[in-house]
Amino acid sequence: MKFASNAAFLKIDPQQDNDQLSLSRLDENYLKKRLGLEEQFKNPNLVKKFSISSLLKPKKCLTRFFKMAGLYHKGLANSFALNLNENNVLLKRLPRKFNGFKILHLSDLHLDMHKYYIEVLKQSLRRLDYDICVITGDFFSHYKKESRQHDCLLNELFNVLSDQVYVVLGNHDSIDMLPTLENIGYKVLINEAVHINRENQSIILSGVDDPHLFRLNDFKYYRSIDRTKCSVLLAHSPEIYKQAAYLGIDLYLCGHTHGGQICLPGGFPIVTHTRCPRKMVKGSWKYNDLVGYTSSGSGVSYLPIRFHSKPEICIHHLKSF
Ligand SMILES: [Fe+2]
Repeated sequence: MKFASNAAFLKIDPQQDNDQLSLSRLDENYLKKRLGLEEQFKNPNLVKKFSISSLLKPKKCLTRFFKMAGLYHKGLANSFALNLNENNVLLKRLPRKFNGFKILHLSDLHLDMHKYYIEVLKQSLRRLDYDICVITGDFFSHYKKESRQHDCLLNELFNVLSDQVYVVLGNHDSIDMLPTLENIGYKVLINEAVHINRENQSIILSGVDDPHLFRLNDFKYYRSIDRTKCSVLLAHSPEIYKQAAYLGIDLYLCGHTHGGQICLPGGFPIVTHTRCPRKMVKGSWKYNDLVGYTSSGSGVSYLPIRFHSKPEICIHHLKSF
């Protein structure tokens, strides 16, 4: 696997020193917008007017409700019952050498929601066999800049993964994480692409910034991509599936929805937090020629509980027709 030197591709290569793998490689306007939006979302008074719900403290009310109903501990236990799923992906344009290529897909780790999430993940990840790992955003619920605890968790996770870990940022992820992620060894794709090579054949792996909250996903880099090649897109949420299909992307990997996290019996999500059809809220889906997979994620957000929506890690087995 090798970084391409084309301007449309990630502008780093393994020989560059770590200091260069930083915010300075990003477009200045993009960075300003990202930091400005993060500031707004951190300070809700700037974006929200007074509302009754801010007085009701819905998080506390919901926690109390689940505790009084005797469901809270069951929901908490559910959030630790991590599933390993295997997904066969048939891709028309997959090069022959990539037949059987395995992508480990993690998403929505929210490692700061409970101290045992990292342990559960480490246990499950150690024995897995795969070619590359991808993480489709939301490492934490509340990242704190230069927090040793957060950095240690990122390190611990990386130590149980293979060297090739490609990630995109989610709606909970701060751009401040970028230098730390890259210094550890994660390859962060922010509206960028890389070539994944196998012998003399390659596919394109690209990643965009969070399309859900920040909406700074930008496909400009796609202009100089060889459209005849098979390509895989990483995005935090499924919400840009139409653009991806229009660009001729073959496989779209994402998360964000937590599969609904708290669902009705039968797995019907009460809230999906996405602007897309319900068939795209979890698992595999199709839109025209685009094949997609929305991970239910391994973590939780808002409340540390799950019902009828299992946390997951997934291995995608790529197969050619
Ligand atoms: Fe998210």
